[in-house]
Amino acid sequence: MIEIKAVILSGGKGTRLRPITHTSAKQLVPVANKPILFYGIEAIRDAGITEIGIVVGDTASEIRAAVGDGGKFGVRTTYIQQEAPLGLAHAVKISKDFVGKDRFVVYLGDNLITDGVAGFVKQFEANAPNCQILLAHVPNPQSFGVAELDGDRVVRLVEKPKEPKSDLALVGVYMFDESVFEAADAIEPSGRDELEITDAIQYLIEKGRDVRYQIITGWWKDTGKLQDMLEANRMILGRLETRIDGEIDAKTQVDGQVVVGKGCRVENSILRGPLIIGENSTIVNAYVGPFTSINYNCEIRGSEVEHSIILEDSRIVDVGGRIESSLVGKNVVIEKHSRRPRAYKFMVGDYSRIELE
Ligand code: DAU
Repeated sequence: MIEIKAVILSGGKGTRLRPITHTSAKQLVPVANKPILFYGIEAIRDAGITEIGIVVGDTASEIRAAVGDGGKFGVRTTYIQQEAPLGLAHAVKISKDFVGKDRFVVYLGDNLITDGVAGFVKQFEANAPNCQILLAHVPNPQSFGVAELDGDRVVRLVEKPKEPKSDLALVGVYMFDESVFEAADAIEPSGRDELEITDAIQYLIEKGRDVRYQIITGWWKDTGKLQDMLEANRMILGRLETRIDGEIDAKTQVDGQVVVGKGCRVENSILRGPLIIGENSTIVNAYVGPFTSINYNCEIRGSEVEHSIILEDSRIVDVGGRIESSLVGKNVVIEKHSRRPRAYKFMVGDYSRIELE
C-alpha cells in the first residue's frame, strides 16, 4: 500500500485578523474554544493519515507549543520552516524532503471543513490522479482561486480573478503526487509576489496531467477574516451538546446547548446557548447569548455578550450595552467606571477596531 502523507500550511501573515495576529498565529485562533488548526489535524487523522508535515513561519514556536509531536492527536508531526510567506506553492516546494515519493494532501491551516476529508482522500487513493482539487460554490468567487470547468474536466484555474468565470472556489485542501514539485519549480511569482498553488495546478492542466475535481457540498470556511471566524464559531457551536462541569447557581437560567467548563462559577445570569465557556471562568450578573465562545480564566460581570469570541484571561465588567459580533483577544479588559470625568479611555493595539453605538 502506498502511504499518503499530509502537509498543513500554518505559516503566512494573517494580516486580515490583526491585531489578534500581532501576537498569535491565525491558525491558533479558537473556534468553539479549540484552535482552528486542531480541526484540520483531526480531519486528516480521521482520513487515516498519520504522517503530517506542518509548514511554519514567524509563529513557529507557538504552533509547536500547541501541537507538539502530534501524539495527543494520534499523529506524528514534522515541522518545516518557511523563511518567509512566499506562497502556497513555495510552502509545498520546501516540503519535498518530507514528502519524498509519496502522494500527499495539502491542507491550509486556516480552513475548516466540518464534514472532514476522509471521503475525498479515499477517492484520491482509488483513482490515483496526479492532482485532485476540491471546489465549492461561493457567493464571492473573486476572493478565491476560481475554477472553470468543461464537463468533467478542469480547464482553467485563476487566483482571485476580478471577473470570475464561475462561482466555483478552490477549497484549501489539495491532493498531489510528486508531479506538483516540477510544477512548483516551473511557475513564476504572481502579482502579489507569491508562488501560487493555483498556478502550479494550472501548469499540471496545461501539461495534460490528470487533474480531477470534486465539489464539496458540506460546510466549508476559510477563516481568514473576522466575519468568517464568527460564522465558523456559529457553525461549530450549533453542533454542541450540553455539558456542565462548573457550578451554576439557582438564580441562573440556562437555555439551549450550553457547555460550562470545570472550575467555572456562574451566578445570577442568563446563559442562552449554543455557547461554550472554558475552564475557570466567572460569569456574574451577566447575559451570555447564542453563538458565543468564552475561553478559560475569563470574567463576564454585569455585562451582556452575544455572537462573539472572547479569548483567555479577558474581563468584561459593567459594560452598559450589549457586546456582539466581536473578537476579543487575550488578557483584554473592557470595563465601565462610574468615576468622573465620564469619558472613553483606551489602550488599544495597532490595527484594533472599536465601534461605539
Ligand atoms: O482558502 C482557500 C483559498 O486559499 C484558495 O481559494 C486560494 O486559491 C488560495 O490561494 C488560498 O488563498 P488565501 O489568500 O486565503 O491564502 P492565505 O494567504 O490565507 O494562506 C492560506 C494558509 O496557508 C494560511 O494558513 C497561511 C498559510 N501560508 C500562506 C502562505 C502565503 C503558508 O504557510 N505559507 C505561505 O507562504
